[in-house]
Amino acid sequence: MLRIGMLTSGGDCQALNATMRAIYKSVMYNAKEPVEFYGFEDGYRGLMYKKYRMLTQTDFNGILTIGGTILGTSRTPFKTIRKPDEHGNDKVELMKRTYNALKLNCLVVLGGNGSVKTANLLSQEGLNVVAMPKTIDNDLWGTDMTFGFQSAVDIATRAIDEIHTTASSHGRVFIVEIMGHKTGWLPLNAGIAGGADIILLPEIPYSIDKICEVIDRKQTTNTNGRFMILAVAEGAISQEDAKLSKKEYRKKLESYIFPSVSYKLASEIEERTGKEVRVTVPGHTQRGGMPDAYDRVFASRLGSEAGRMICHGEYGYLVAYKNREIIKQPLAEVAGKLKLVDPNSSIIKEARMMGISFGD
Ligand code: F6P
Repeated sequence: MLRIGMLTSGGDCQALNATMRAIYKSVMYNAKEPVEFYGFEDGYRGLMYKKYRMLTQTDFNGILTIGGTILGTSRTPFKTIRKPDEHGNDKVELMKRTYNALKLNCLVVLGGNGSVKTANLLSQEGLNVVAMPKTIDNDLWGTDMTFGFQSAVDIATRAIDEIHTTASSHGRVFIVEIMGHKTGWLPLNAGIAGGADIILLPEIPYSIDKICEVIDRKQTTNTNGRFMILAVAEGAISQEDAKLSKKEYRKKLESYIFPSVSYKLASEIEERTGKEVRVTVPGHTQRGGMPDAYDRVFASRLGSEAGRMICHGEYGYLVAYKNREIIKQPLAEVAGKLKLVDPNSSIIKEARMMGISFGD
């Protein structure tokens, strides 16, 4: 008997269900022995507190196109994983106990950075773990792409697309704030796809003087210069703030009256240029809805490989994507590392060649 546990952890995204479906199909098609799938509810919490259900074919029917996760998810920060829970129990021990009680052969974790760190810890503790690269942020080290990312790029792009007409009618400056946590993959790609004039990323600290200069220049040199669109990462940071220590910056952020960096920028731009500025925050819509066609194919490929690995007993890996191929990366080599946008990468250079400003 092959017993497989599965959980989805951290912020949700599109194609979680598509990935689980592919794993199920791949295992069922290839396993040489009877198989049981156990789904843990709400991420690692389900594994800790024995909240699970057996998953059968019916659970996976019709979920290829459905966003969210049939298992539910939650955030279990890695930095608290070794801290006892409210009953004084060691969380890692609780998880190991459930794993052993169910006589699992392996645990499949669909998760982003924090979740992969915990997956690696569990692997070091002797559990057979396979991790799947999930997150709209695309910031997971060891893989060129994560599932959920392309669907989120589509949604963020549509948000920028739809701002164009109203920005043009009113001759306004529009800021579209895009998710991505501490990295700029999502705003970079959506910004280019949506034809943004300025893209601000955490990896390229901006100067407010430079931004206002670009706005003024477009107005005087371009017949289309009535309006301006900025795709701003939620983690965008000024050159001045980038010099602060993490602690100093956190303190400064707490002192702001603005709900996010975009509103602060809007106020500064209005004050300096006299132009009307509006902010649009698509927020969690970027994680919602159905996976796009790219993500459905990608999730299927990743899940298929995970199924193959499980059938061959290959554990302790993140299923990843490198140079257009699905590969496996040792968890210990990828856990805890953040994949940032390289300011000198070709995509940044190509964008600059087209006149896109990064505010630097
Ligand atoms: O990691 C995915 C993500 O959507 C980030 O882009 C964003 O910073 C964060 O999660 C939002 O977290 P929450 O859903 O907990 O508000």
